[in-house]
Amino acid sequence: MSTDSSTAAPGTDSGTTLKVAIIGTGVIGAAWATGFLSAGHSVTAFDPAEGAEERLREQVTNCVEDAGSGSAASLLEHLTFAPSLAEAVADADFVQENGPERLEVKQSMLAEIDAAAPEVAVIASSTSGFSPSQLSAQATKAPGRIVVGHPFNPAHLVPLVEVVPSSATSAEVIERAMETYRAVGKKPILVRAELPGHVANRLQAAMWQEAYSLVDRGVVSVSDIDTAISYGPGLRWAILGPLAQQSLSGGAGGMRHVLDHLGPPQEVWMHDLKKVHLGEDLKEKLIAGVDEELQDRDPAVLAKQRDDMLLELIALKRKYGELP
Ligand SMILES: NC(=O)c1ccc[n+]([C@@H]2O[C@H](COP(=O)([O-])OP(=O)(O)OC[C@H]3O[C@@H](n4cnc5c(N)ncnc54)[C@H](O)[C@@H]3O)[C@@H](O)[C@H]2O)c1
Repeated sequence: MSTDSSTAAPGTDSGTTLKVAIIGTGVIGAAWATGFLSAGHSVTAFDPAEGAEERLREQVTNCVEDAGSGSAASLLEHLTFAPSLAEAVADADFVQENGPERLEVKQSMLAEIDAAAPEVAVIASSTSGFSPSQLSAQATKAPGRIVVGHPFNPAHLVPLVEVVPSSATSAEVIERAMETYRAVGKKPILVRAELPGHVANRLQAAMWQEAYSLVDRGVVSVSDIDTAISYGPGLRWAILGPLAQQSLSGGAGGMRHVLDHLGPPQEVWMHDLKKVHLGEDLKEKLIAGVDEELQDRDPAVLAKQRDDMLLELIALKRKYGELP
């Protein structure tokens, strides 16, 4: 860790600059590299794929342009590409692992990172669903400093990060991970149990399950599901979370009133939800429905529109102050 402002990377006023190692520089690794560089940290990256360094530089440039946060050239001066994983993490304060989502690959990468990184470094994995206990199974030096730090796509724009420790993780490591993410403008939450899919993906899965079931049963079309959320509750959920939002539905009586009043029927709906199996028939229905819904759309243009609107939404949230 460096506190010498003469060597500080751009964007750092006077405070601490971290040496961050980014291991695996695909979609998510590039987004993390952009975030850490933009916050003034120095980044050393490693990815064994042919041409990975050029792709990373290009992706960081694209992410910076997408975010409308100035020029990438000065940030890229603080990016180094290492010839091996061990060299990338050798003097890291913080490691963010973004390799393929395959348990055996991640276990071996994290064992190698743990062996080569300084014992004080925090090691976070971007895994979408594995637990830190699974990920650290082959690590022998200091496995307790391996946590999940799960971002959300597009990860250079969306603030949420889910931090999941294992039972071997100290309170100090948890706080350092949370603080590191806060300091790069993220919004971390601490997940207190190791569950498949952490929290946000489980919440999405609960909704996808019912959406798929309703389509499967012919209750509504794919595009009706999307309208029901994106022109309905989804509009509110981006502003206030679903529970704070629910309390507003209780008027002056707040959450107590809404739960007393609407809790009983809500419980009937909850217990009526169906489980689905994602078999071939259902997959075909969903694919055909989305193809029809998006038939005149270019996915690249759609993704750009989504990202532009996300930026405006995030700016609006800032303008109105911190909401829950
Ligand atoms: N894409 C998403 O929406 C998303 C969102 C949140 C989290 N994640 C998680 O982030 C991680 C990365 O996902 P992605 O979408 O960036 O995948 P990706 O396929 O774009 O990138 C994976 C990268 O890992 C590299 N790699 C393979 N073996 C390696 C090794 N031994 N050492 C270092 N690098 C290695 C590959 O060359 C590739 O560049 C996964 O764990 C995924 O679950 C993905």
